[in-house]
Formats: sequence, C-alpha cells, structure tokens
Amino acid sequence: MPKIKIEGGHQLTGTITVSGAKNSVVALIPAAILCDEIVTISNVPNITDVDDLEKILLHLNAKIDRDKEELVIDSSKIENKEITQELSKKLRASYYFMGALLGRFKHVEMYFPGGCAIGARPINLHLKGFEALGAKVIEEDNHFIIKADKLKGNNIYLDFPSVGATINIMLAAVKAKGKTVIDNAAQEPEIVNVATYLNNMGAKIKGAGTSTITIIGVRHLHKCYHEVIPDRIEAGTYLIIAALLGKNLKIDNMIPSHLEALIAKLTESGVDMEIGLDNIIVNKVGKYKAIDIKTLVYPGFPTDLQQIITTFLTQCKGKSIVEETIYENRFQNLKELNKMGAKTKVKKDNRKAIIKGVTKLKGANVTATDLRGGASLLVAALIANGTTTIDNISYILRGYDKIIEKLTEVGAKIELI
Ligand code: EPU
Repeated sequence: MPKIKIEGGHQLTGTITVSGAKNSVVALIPAAILCDEIVTISNVPNITDVDDLEKILLHLNAKIDRDKEELVIDSSKIENKEITQELSKKLRASYYFMGALLGRFKHVEMYFPGGCAIGARPINLHLKGFEALGAKVIEEDNHFIIKADKLKGNNIYLDFPSVGATINIMLAAVKAKGKTVIDNAAQEPEIVNVATYLNNMGAKIKGAGTSTITIIGVRHLHKCYHEVIPDRIEAGTYLIIAALLGKNLKIDNMIPSHLEALIAKLTESGVDMEIGLDNIIVNKVGKYKAIDIKTLVYPGFPTDLQQIITTFLTQCKGKSIVEETIYENRFQNLKELNKMGAKTKVKKDNRKAIIKGVTKLKGANVTATDLRGGASLLVAALIANGTTTIDNISYILRGYDKIIEKLTEVGAKIELI
C-alpha cells in the first residue's frame, strides 16, 4: 500500500482549483441508470469512489466512456443482476443502486454498503422509505432483496434528515406512480445537485434544498448533460490549509455560500479571507484564538470538516471544544494527531473532544484511520516540523482528486512512496 511522505513547514502560494463534489457524483452515477438513454456528467473528480461505482456499472452491463473529467453512461442495455458483496462493500455510495435499480426494474439484490468506519451507519431510513413506496425488503446476513409489483407515491417523514436516505428515496420515487412527499429531508447542496440532474432528465422534483421535497412520478427519463457542483468539503480542507500556510493562496472554483458555517468559524478565530464570487483568497495570520465547533446537518458545521478543523485548532491559542453530533466514532484521528505533538483528549462518551493550543507539531509516522481523518493528518504534516509519513492513504484517495499534484503546485513538499 502506498504512503505519503510530507516535509512540513513550507509556505503555500498560487491557486488550488476545487474539483467536482464526491458526495454529489457518487449519487449522480448510480442515478444515471434510471434513464435508458445516454447521460453525460462533467466535472467528475478522479477519485477511487468513482472508479468503484464504474465497476458496478460495468458489472450491470452499462457502457461507460470516461475522458478526463467527463463521464458518459449508456445504460440502455443494463441487466438487473445482483451486485456482489465485494462490489457493494467497496464504498458507502453503492447504496444508491438500491433506489436506482428499484426505480428502473422494481427489483434489486445487493449487500450492505461499505464506507469509512466512523459510526454504526444503518440504512433503516432508506429501507423504510422504499417500503412506504410499496416495496418489500427481505434482509438476511447483510444481503438485501428489495422488490415491488409497483411503486406508488406516499408521504414519508424521515426521523433524521439523512443525506443518503433523502437521495435514495428520491431515486425510487421519480418513477413511482403519483406524488411522494419527503418531510424532514436533508438540505445539503448535493441533494439539490441530484434533483436538478433528475429534473434535467424529465423528473418532476420540487423543494430540494428545503426540508420538504415533492416528487411527482414520471414514466420515462431522457438523456441529459449535467455538471457536478464543486466539492465543498475539498474546498473547506484547502481553506483550512490556507489559513495555516497560505500566502495569497486562492481556492478557486468553489461556492462560498456552501461553506458559510466554516467561514464563520474561521473568521471568529481570526482568519483573514477575501471572499469572491467563486473563490476565496487566504493569507496566514498565525495568531488564532480557540473556538468551539459543533457538527450539525446542513447548513450547520459539516461533520466531514470536523476532523480537519481539529488540526487547525491545535494552532489556536486556548482550549477548543469539538462536539460531534452526527457520527458515534469520528475522533479516531486524534490518537494519531497526538503522536505528532498535539494535545487532544476525547471525552468518555466519544462525542466531545478538547483541543489545547498552541502546540508545535513534529513529523512522525502516522496512519490514516478514515477519509477525513487521513486529511486531518495530511494538514498536520504540512505544518509540522520535519517529515511525516502517512500510511493507509487509500482512504484519502477515495475522496480527494489529485491532492498530491494540487498541493505540490502551490509549494508543498509531498510525494507518494
Ligand atoms: N442514519 C440512520 N439511519 C439511516 C441513515 C442514516 O440512523 O437510514 C444516521 C447515520 O447513522 C448517521 C446520520 O444518520 O449518524 C447521518 O447519516 P447520513 O445518512 O446523512 O449520511 P450518509 O448518507 O451515510 C453522507 C456522506 C457522508 C457525510 C454524510 C453527512 C455520501 C456517500 N456520504 O453519508 O460523507 O458525512 O452524508 O453529511 O454521500 C465523507 O465524505 O467523508 C462522508 C462520510
């Protein structure tokens, strides 16, 4: 397994261009099979999650043409085969084939999805949604058969505004008969991106981006061309790096309004940002004050930036408290961060951590525990004194497009070994 080696302490200057959003494209790709014509998706990031979804499409006999950032999917001749355990487990987003295959064939067979081990991550709300649309779910040893004679629109209230459940129910409902209303729906920008895409194919979805989404089922979806929105978590990661090492570092091709919570917290801490229409320029100030973070669903502070901002908090004067409300196990990176000299402590209930700053970080051999945890170590390595080696980097490559190239271009000393 390759590792990343980073020599810390180098100032970063120039422009980093943000790629297409992982959590959007991983839904857009499975959703393509709802349409039996050709779908073209542009601004597709080069990440292993996309490669793994392509493998599932090929397994189902779809035709794919990927050229740089454009992905063309022809699913006119797909076969409704069981998605094997190996393919299902490769990533979390394999679960979107449940909604998509159910919508297209009224029948799906696959296994429990994979993804980072950051909590229990059940899919009960997805399944309840499918059942409300008239499907029967048979579950045995992590194997699922979900089938329906016909799908019929219904009113569905989500106990929690789950991103995955909202999208999956939308996928199944676009071809159900009649009207579906999802209440307490997730409001993340990725939901809007997926709804816009389906509407471009002829679906009738209203209210995406609010807590009530209405879907009127249609019989047929037609071909479309669609662009993936910029990745707000990737943009946020680079903003945090820029606050620590930037000299006129521009984070380009991003949507600042998707990151309001992060921008507010960085500003509170003393970060100097020049916010443009689709970019932010950051200069390292250096003297930052401790802040408290509480993760929430959108538009609250994103859980996917929680681990990364803890590295920033090691450089803030005072005691910061980080509260994780979405996942039960998203502080695993802190043990590794402490190996680099950070002073962090997780409270007994595993929901809060205390970060003491300012601490001087030093190079060490550390291991990525999950995608964003890996990114938090990478940020630490960039600011540390000396050289850091990060193991298990396949986690990072799951979600960050060309990360080594992008950072090298602005002056980081980072290489694959
Ligand atoms: N939940 C349930 N039941 C369900 C679904 C979710 O209890 O049926 C709980 C989960 O256990 C969790 C919370 O609800 O505690 C949030 O889960 P959600 O369904 O919103 O998350 P997800 O769909 O599994 C997506 C992203 C995650 C991101 C979350 C929250 C994808 C493939 N993954 O996950 O991304 O953290 O939304 O924004 O889109 C990442 O990129 O690092 C990542 C983990």
